[in-house]
Amino acid sequence: MSNKKLHFGIIGAGRIGRVHAETLAFRLPESQIVTITDVNREAAQSLAAHCGIPKIAESSEEVIADPQVEAVLICSPTDTHTDLIVEAAKAGKHIFCEKPIAQSLAKIDAALAAVKAAGVQLQIGFNRRFDANFARVRKAVASGEIGAPTLMHIISRDPGPPPISYIKVSGGMFMDMTIHDFDMARFLIGDEVEEIYTTGGVMVDPEIGKAGDIDTALIVMRFRNGVIGTIDNCRKAVYGYDQRVEILGSKGKIETGNCYPNQAVVSGEKSVYQDLPLNFFMDRYTESFAAELKSFTHAVIENQLTPVTGIDGRIPVVMALAARKSYDEHRPVRLDEVNA
Ligand SMILES: NC(=O)c1ccc[n+]([C@@H]2O[C@H](COP(=O)([O-])OP(=O)(O)OC[C@H]3O[C@@H](n4cnc5c(N)ncnc54)[C@H](O)[C@@H]3O)[C@@H](O)[C@H]2O)c1
Repeated sequence: MSNKKLHFGIIGAGRIGRVHAETLAFRLPESQIVTITDVNREAAQSLAAHCGIPKIAESSEEVIADPQVEAVLICSPTDTHTDLIVEAAKAGKHIFCEKPIAQSLAKIDAALAAVKAAGVQLQIGFNRRFDANFARVRKAVASGEIGAPTLMHIISRDPGPPPISYIKVSGGMFMDMTIHDFDMARFLIGDEVEEIYTTGGVMVDPEIGKAGDIDTALIVMRFRNGVIGTIDNCRKAVYGYDQRVEILGSKGKIETGNCYPNQAVVSGEKSVYQDLPLNFFMDRYTESFAAELKSFTHAVIENQLTPVTGIDGRIPVVMALAARKSYDEHRPVRLDEVNA
């Protein structure tokens, strides 16, 4: 590793923009934030003051055109991602883009073509791969420690649903929430899913149904190598963020539980209990957000392939489209049916 610093421009100063800006500013000495923009200028100003960012740009175009900016961090809403990727790639800037790349495969393909033509690096924000628990599960599968995997269960439940306004533009639960679990499924097994069957419903809030989405689902995946996997999703778990995995293999199993703010266990006359799990992604996955940006920064500085590439961003979108089609049509859907 050289002493070089990677100079970033940030687009979007909302929830995830803040998480990433804090990593770059306070935890990653190999990086420097040059400029930031947000259509809500106050959001950009407040984050710039918090993180010591010297410039506030008037627009994403200004961030991308800034000669000091070597890498663009796209943290704006999903429907802005592909245009920004194309513009940044044309300007020769490396790109870290939040998930999902887009909801349309045609737009994703155009963006990935622009990245390829420009020869810049692209990493997609599938941060859970960098979580220590899930990385250990992957290691157990990849090394053969649990033998050949046969069954995988991913439990991924949020503590509560996002606002209806967010649901309406999010692309739906599969595209917005399950997308992380689709990425996790192919990451952990190290193979591709061929077929998906989904059942689900609206069990948390009827308003979510009125917005055209569901809030609860069970997804069954069949991989090319024969592994069968499930994803169990719900927008609401009253006890907090429920993020667990279990994989059964021919030589054993590996499982990971939830993460807690402390290890204390209280024993009383009638029960033994502990505090609730860490409440949501900003607490549960803090370290993984920092690790993903570190890996991107090092990949760019050392001119290595990023660990979560454009195609890794595309395949979970295909899986999300298949999951929705399966739910709508009440039948198993092969990925090649939606992968046009
Ligand atoms: N990896 C994860 O776990 C994770 C978590 C949360 C969000 N995300 C993704 O990050 C993206 C942003 O989500 P969020 O929750 O931070 O949303 P948010 O609404 O909190 O923040 C988005 C910000 O972008 C700004 N913005 C909108 N259009 C813009 C534009 N054209 N140029 C510049 N700024 C613009 C908004 O004013 C807002 O401040 C989404 O794609 C979402 O899927 C990923």
